[in-house]
Amino acid sequence: MACSTAPGAAGLSLPGGRPKWDPGHSVLDLGCGPGFASLDLAGLVGSGGGVVAIDKPQRFLTTQRMCRERGVANIATHQADLDAGEFPEVMVDRVWCRWVLAFVKSP
Ligand SMILES: C[S@@+](CC[C@H](N)C(=O)[O-])C[C@H]1O[C@@H](n2cnc3c(N)ncnc32)[C@H](O)[C@@H]1O
Repeated sequence: MACSTAPGAAGLSLPGGRPKWDPGHSVLDLGCGPGFASLDLAGLVGSGGGVVAIDKPQRFLTTQRMCRERGVANIATHQADLDAGEFPEVMVDRVWCRWVLAFVKSP
């Protein structure tokens, strides 16, 4: 099966239009899950930017594996439980959070 890291491959979109992502931006992807949106975001910000993808224990490992298999170097993965208020100490330009808050106890 062919895999793509091209922007839009995971159907990243919002009602009302595409969010503005500039090449070189850094993005925090909260609750990245399997990392499909992380891959889109990584493509949009390009090699000059990067994505910090976080999820609960074990979940982020799928994202890690996908990055390894596809040779994507601008996604860093972290284990963090949002319910426990865990956030990586990073400076980012944008925060992305899709289909996650419904699962968090105190969003
Ligand atoms: C429906 S998936 C969405 C995945 C991804 N954001 C996407 O758009 O494809 C929800 C994700 O939220 C994560 N999640 C739920 N509660 C969380 C928490 N307390 N801390 C971190 N991640 C959490 C789950 O592990 C899961 O990967």
